[in-house]
Amino acid sequence: MILGVPVESYPGERRVALVPAVVAALTKAGLDVHVEAGAGERAGFPDAAYLEQGARIAQTRHYLFSKANIVALVHGPFAAPEAGHSQAETLRTGQVIVGLLNPLGDPQSARKLAEKGVTAFALELLPRISRAQPMDALTAMATVSGYKAVILAAAALPRLFPMMITAAGTITPARVFVVGAGVAGLQAIATARRLGAVVQAFDVRPVVKEQVESLGAKFVETGLETQGAEGAGGYARAMDEEFYKRQREVMARVVAESDVVITTAAVPGGKAPLLVTEEMVRGMRPGSVIVDLAAESGGNCELTHQGETVETHGITIMGPVNLPSTVHYHASQMYARNVTAFLQTLVQQGEVRLNLEDAILRESLLTHGGEVVNPRVRGLLGLSVANEAPR
Ligand code: NAI
Repeated sequence: MILGVPVESYPGERRVALVPAVVAALTKAGLDVHVEAGAGERAGFPDAAYLEQGARIAQTRHYLFSKANIVALVHGPFAAPEAGHSQAETLRTGQVIVGLLNPLGDPQSARKLAEKGVTAFALELLPRISRAQPMDALTAMATVSGYKAVILAAAALPRLFPMMITAAGTITPARVFVVGAGVAGLQAIATARRLGAVVQAFDVRPVVKEQVESLGAKFVETGLETQGAEGAGGYARAMDEEFYKRQREVMARVVAESDVVITTAAVPGGKAPLLVTEEMVRGMRPGSVIVDLAAESGGNCELTHQGETVETHGITIMGPVNLPSTVHYHASQMYARNVTAFLQTLVQQGEVRLNLEDAILRESLLTHGGEVVNPRVRGLLGLSVANEAPR
């Protein structure tokens, strides 16, 4: 059973799906790891390091895809439209692919994978249960993004983060407001605290208050009715526009008194709620910074430009995309561990076992036998939703 690791072709991507350190575990699981020449280069993992761990190097992408029974990817083969064609040609019927396939953001790519006859597993669809934690790539990548958002903010802010008592006077600490305290938000809080900032945070899910406080930040009490804001799998539900309007009103004061605002509020599969308006930005002190981690799903700030940094009303507004790729070494290492844990569930004694009794495999299975099989993605595509899982 050959496991292939191609060069990522998504523009600007520096991560690789598997790093040399996981090759031994995969070999033990009965997989023969083949890596496309240079696949790990941009993440800091040269071909020689894979060879040392017992992997083989495939000189061409075409050769790799023609041999591999399973392909491990970071982005799906149709993620970059300009590269999609060449990638699509390499896929084979019956081939298994595992990666972050963006099924909720781009359901059409699932349709294309189905047409290719590929058995695709999207790590975004993993159930958020304890057993799936080692393979939860969304969590690992959000952790990296939350950390990096603070580093970007600290670099752009014309102030220091920590309090400093010096012979040249006393510096007051930066004030950071984190909106959305999920995985990325909690890591942003922890990172900002480590840098010495005074941190406040808000999330619609009431359970988060305790987690925020345990990191040494203050939970902003809004008086909003948030019971029922938590939906399936621990994710937030979309609230109505009236709720968001009131949330903006309550948050305006906190935004105005903050030097840095980091927004991470997301509703899976939906557009990010608008939480920071132009008027709120105008209320901030010049030089303040907003890092909008929801930029990829529409942005939480009205002035965010996806993938760009803009300065408006004296405020720096960043809308970074694909942040984990900027921390490519550790993001690849974490992602590789996630993929390895997933493959150790999927592959038994060197054979792919499509055991759909297992919620991990059943829920992450996106396409199989020429069909999009995940009910949620089928719904997004307007396809009928069968009652029975495929066998
Ligand atoms: P996410 O990326 O979908 O959303 C980010 C955060 O934004 C969430 O905390 C959400 O509640 C918040 N949010 C949404 N609308 C908001 C609004 N209007 N105002 C303020 N905040 C808003 O979610 P993420 O971070 O991927 O996961 C959320 C939660 O899922 C975790 O905190 C945890 O409870 C649960 N989880 C469970 C895992 C497990 O058991 N294995 C693993 C990872 C997460």
